[in-house]
Amino acid sequence: MILQPDIKIFDTSDDLAVFFNAWLLKKIKETPLNSFLSLALSGGSTPKRIYRHIANSDTKNTDWEKLKIFWSDERCVPPDNLESNFKMAQQELLHALNIPEENIFRIFGEADPYFEAIRYSRIIETNIPVHKGIPRFDIILLGLGEDGHIASIFPDNMSLFNVPTYCEAVTHPQSGQKRITFTGKLINAAKNIIFLVTGKNKAGIVSKILQAGFSTHFPASLINPVEGELLWLLDSEAAELIR
Ligand code: 6PG
Repeated sequence: MILQPDIKIFDTSDDLAVFFNAWLLKKIKETPLNSFLSLALSGGSTPKRIYRHIANSDTKNTDWEKLKIFWSDERCVPPDNLESNFKMAQQELLHALNIPEENIFRIFGEADPYFEAIRYSRIIETNIPVHKGIPRFDIILLGLGEDGHIASIFPDNMSLFNVPTYCEAVTHPQSGQKRITFTGKLINAAKNIIFLVTGKNKAGIVSKILQAGFSTHFPASLINPVEGELLWLLDSEAAELIR
């Protein structure tokens, strides 16, 4: 069944960040004290701006320790490398939140990609509750590439929606950079999948994905939670062709 996504359009990326911040705080508040909320972060400049907004907001009265932090993909570089999604999240968000270190599950970008994909899959299996046989994240954030990629699932690798694994080692089609990525199966098992998309340069791909109906050309078109919510958060520039 193709779920009709909930699409919210905001005048500016700041308005989008304010909405997402409030949405996340509500989810944290709804999480019982003795439980946790699993959140998989995305890389990218749009998520980066939103993380910075959250870090600069009033973070004092939130039980951030309820969060378990993961990444939906990572570049295979050391954690102090400028390309690292961990480094970006650490600098823009995590430094401001009192999340216990044991609740932050970094992908080891410095490790052998093949073995790290296996190790991270095991970390997920150990820490994320299973629903119908698949680890089910509470929240997975996704940016959107101009080619329709999500996480590090690129258009030349759509088979990542048909593999039984949860994480795979892949290669960026242009740069050749090795990456670790969640697979389509793991992403679509989540309770909440949230796209964070801003900027005029994304208007074309947003229109192709949200208006063209079901397509097998773009990874983003195959994001369809099996039993969950799909929320597209767009600024007016990214949404200019779908209004
Ligand atoms: C990454 C992200 C990637 C990103 C998109 C959008 O590691 O880079 O996982 O999927 O979210 O490329 O990035 P921008 O928001 O910078 O366009």
